[in-house]
Formats: sequence, C-alpha cells, structure tokens
Amino acid sequence: GLSIGAHIGVMKKTLVLVGDLGTGKTSIIRRYVHNIFSSNYKSTIGVDFALKVIQWGPDWIVRLQLWDIAGQERFGNMTRVYYKEALGAIVVYDVTRPQTFEGVTKWKNDIDTKVALPDAWGGGQIPVILLANKSDLIQEGHGQHVNPTELDQFCQDNGFIKWFETSAKDNTNIEEAARHLISSILKLE
Ligand code: GTP
Ligand code: MG
Repeated sequence: GLSIGAHIGVMKKTLVLVGDLGTGKTSIIRRYVHNIFSSNYKSTIGVDFALKVIQWGPDWIVRLQLWDIAGQERFGNMTRVYYKEALGAIVVYDVTRPQTFEGVTKWKNDIDTKVALPDAWGGGQIPVILLANKSDLIQEGHGQHVNPTELDQFCQDNGFIKWFETSAKDNTNIEEAARHLISSILKLE
C-alpha cells in the first residue's frame, strides 16, 4: 500500500578522493556516478562534488557525497578544509606512471595528519583504500601489473585497508572498491 518505504533509513556519508595530477580521480567518479568515460583531460581546479545515492541492503539508502580533490592541491593548504567531513578516503595512482605511486604515501600522510573519525566513533584514522588505476593500459602493454604480495605489504605498512586494480575506462573494480570502503565505514559505527 502507500506505506512502502516507510521503514527505509537514509545515511549520509562523505568520501574524499585524492592522488597526484591526472591519475583518474574525476574519471573514476564520473564512471561510478554517471557511468560515462571521456579520454579528454580537464584538470580539476580546487575541488568538485558529486552525489551518488545507493541502496544498501533492504533497509537503507546511502547518500554518498564524493569530494573530488585536484591533484594540484597537494601543494596547497586547503586539504584540511576539504577533508573535514570525510569518513573514508580513496587514494589513486596511475599504473603507467610510477612517480604517481610516490604521491601515494604523501597523500596518505596528509590525510592521517589532518582528519580523524568523529569522537563518538573513537577518533581513530578514517579507513583509506588504494586504487591502482588505468589497468586497461596494462593490457595494451603500458605499465605493468601490480605485484599483489608487494602491494598487500605496502597497504599493511601504510595503513590502507585494501587495494584494487581499477579502470575508469573499462569500468573495472570501481563499484567493488566503493562497496568495500562503505562497508568498512559502516562497521565503525
Ligand atoms: P586532476 O584533476 O588533475 O588531479 O586529475 P584526475 O586525477 O582527476 O584525472 P582525470 O580523471 O581527469 O584523468 C586524467 C586523464 O587520464 C584523462 O585523460 C582520462 O581520460 C585518463 N584516464 C582516467 N582514468 C583512466 C583509465 O582507467 N584508463 C585510461 N586509459 N585512461 C584513464
Ligand atoms: Mg580531476
């Protein structure tokens, strides 16, 4: 009858995406939210926002606010402001450009020093996942596959909860990565 939906709860969660210039943050969000991809590169200025509403089990709606932070911002002093509401973070590097992997620990440190979970949740570090993006280019002979053992160790040493090899172009693993991060956040409550 008309009471359909009466027991559905809505949760609002904020995630931030960071990583060096051109690693694919905006493309990942566009794929995730609008299911589109473009090979044109328009560098983000400052920060962009996107909203994705997802069904979470039978009883919940998650309103996911995504903060798409420009790679350029690592050299600015605004990230503390951008991280403010974040309950989880995604750090992205480009598998075809090893120097962007060096940015990974720098971004992770930036997050760890500037944002923490709410006091009610214990105030610890927010969960962070690592994305090795542009995996489609590996198939084409550019860059090389990540070494899973090495990357597992790297995640353990640097406090990432998990890594995924992704492609915004081919829509590989993006949904999976987001679900993993969201469920990690929900377990903290
Ligand atoms: P900034 O906003 O400058 O920090 O960059 P960004 O991290 O948002 O990168 P963006 O999404 O704009 O992508 C940079 C370039 O890489 C664009 O030309 C994209 O089309 C391309 N790109 C992003 N993801 C992928 C991918 O998975 N595969 C391939 N082949 N290209 C990708
Ligand atoms: Mg961008």
